[in-house]
Amino acid sequence: MGQREQWGTRVGFVLAAVGSAIGLGNIWRFPYMAAENGGGAFFIPYLFALLTAGIPILILEFGIGHKFRGSAPLSFAKLSRKWEWLGWWQVLVCFFIAIYYVDVIAWAISYVGFSLSQAWGNAPADFFFGEYLGLSEGPFDLGGLRTGILFTLIIAWAVTFLALYGGVKGGIEKANKILMPVLFIMTVIMAVRGVTLPGAAEGLNYLFEPDFSRIFDYKVWTAAYGQIFFTLSIAFAIMIAYSSYLPKKSDIVNNAFITAFVNCGFSLLAGLAVFGVVGHMALNQGKPVAEVAGSGGVGMAFITFPAAINTLGSLAPLFGILFFLSLTFAGLSSLISINEAAISAFMDKFNLARKPAVIIYTGVAAACSLVFATGAGLYILDIVDHFINNFGIVFGGLIEVLLIGWLFNLKTIQDHVNPISEIKVGSWWPFCIKFITPVVLGYMAVMNLINDFKEPYGGYPLNALFWLGWFVIIIVIVGGFLISALKWKDEQSLIKEVD
Ligand code: ALA
Repeated sequence: MGQREQWGTRVGFVLAAVGSAIGLGNIWRFPYMAAENGGGAFFIPYLFALLTAGIPILILEFGIGHKFRGSAPLSFAKLSRKWEWLGWWQVLVCFFIAIYYVDVIAWAISYVGFSLSQAWGNAPADFFFGEYLGLSEGPFDLGGLRTGILFTLIIAWAVTFLALYGGVKGGIEKANKILMPVLFIMTVIMAVRGVTLPGAAEGLNYLFEPDFSRIFDYKVWTAAYGQIFFTLSIAFAIMIAYSSYLPKKSDIVNNAFITAFVNCGFSLLAGLAVFGVVGHMALNQGKPVAEVAGSGGVGMAFITFPAAINTLGSLAPLFGILFFLSLTFAGLSSLISINEAAISAFMDKFNLARKPAVIIYTGVAAACSLVFATGAGLYILDIVDHFINNFGIVFGGLIEVLLIGWLFNLKTIQDHVNPISEIKVGSWWPFCIKFITPVVLGYMAVMNLINDFKEPYGGYPLNALFWLGWFVIIIVIVGGFLISALKWKDEQSLIKEVD
C-alpha cells in the first residue's frame, strides 16, 4: 500500500471534523434534550461533560489517530495487538448507525420537496406515519419497501458514495467545503428569522429557563454525557480515522477545541431556530409551548416542525426548505464520516485500495439500509438506535478510556501532542480520562443496563428487543473479536509509521 492519504489543508480537516460532529444530533436531538432536561440548568452538566469528557477524548482520539496513522482498529492494534477488537467494535457501531442514519437523511430529502407545497397538510403526524412511512403493525411486519423513501435513499447514498470514492482530499474534504459553509448560512438565516418571529421569546424561555431542581437528577447527567459522545462523534472510530490523515505537523489540541466549540455553538444556533419557530406556533395556536412542542427526535423534525412551518404564512416554503436541507447537509457530512471510519479500517486490515473498498462497503451498507425503508423501518430504527447509543457507544467509550487511561501510558500521547500544539495539555487531561469520565460512564452504563432490564424499551415485544437490540450488540462485540482474529494482509502496517 502506498502513502497514507492526507488532508489538503488544515481548514479542510477542521471542516471535515466539524462536519462529522454536526449532524442530525445537533438539530433534532440537542434542542429537545436541553428543553426536557432542565432547560438552562441542562447547560451545567452539558458543559461539564464537554470539558471533562468531550474535549479530552477528542484530544485523545486526534492524538491516537495522528500518532499511529491508522484507522481505529489499526491504531488500537499498534497500541497493543490485544486491543484491536475495540477498534472493530467501534467500526461495527458505525456500520449499524450508518444504515439507519442514511434513512433519516432520505426522509429529510423527501421533506425538502414536500416543503414546497406543505404536502403534509393539516395533519403532519398522519401524513408522516401513514402516507409517507406507511408504518406497519410492528417491527416484524415489514409491509414492503416504500418507493418514495427508496428514491431519496438512493440520492443520499449517491452523494455519500461520490465523496468517499473521491478520497480524503478529492472527495471528503471537497464535500465538506461545500456542505459546511452552506449549512452555516442556512442555519444563521433560520436562527435570525426564528428569534424575531412573534412568540419566539416564549419558545426560547422554554428552551433556556433553568429548572435547577433537575440538576441532581442522574438522568440529566447521563443525557448530557450521551449527547456529548453522540454529537462529537467520539468513541465512534471516526475521529481516529480522520486524524490519521493529518500531516505530521498538525496542531492537535487546538483543532480539538475548535471542533468541539464550533459544534456546540452550532447546537445553540439550531436551538434558537427550532424553538423560535415552535414559540411562534404556540402563540399562533394560543397554547403553551410545552403543549405544542411535542417530543424530540423523529417527531420533532417530521411532525412538530412541519406543523410549525404551517403557521409561517408566505415564509413557509422557504423555512421548510432551509430546515430540511440543513438536516440533509448536516446528516450527509456525518454519514460520510461514519462510513469512512469503517472503510479506512477495511482498507488498513485487508490492504485494499480505496475504490474497491468504497464500492464493496457502501454496496453492503446500502443493501442493509433498505430494511429501514420498509413499513417497519421506524420501529427497527428506534430499537437499533436505542441499543447502539446506550450500549454500543457508552460501553465502547468506557472500555476505551479504561484501556488507554489505565493500561497504557497516557503520557506517550501527551508527549506526542504537546510539542505540535499551541495549547499544551496539562495534568487535567489524564485526570479527566482516567478518573472523571470512567466514573460517569461506568455509572451510566450500569444504570442503562438496569433500566433496560427493568422496563423493556419503548414497550416493544421482547423478541423484537432481543433480535434488533441485544443481538445487534452481540454482533458488535463478537464481530469485533472475530475480525480482529483475522490475519493482517500486510503485517508490516502494524509497525510502520509510529513515531
Ligand atoms: N455527530 C453526529 C451527529 O450529531 C453523528 O449526528
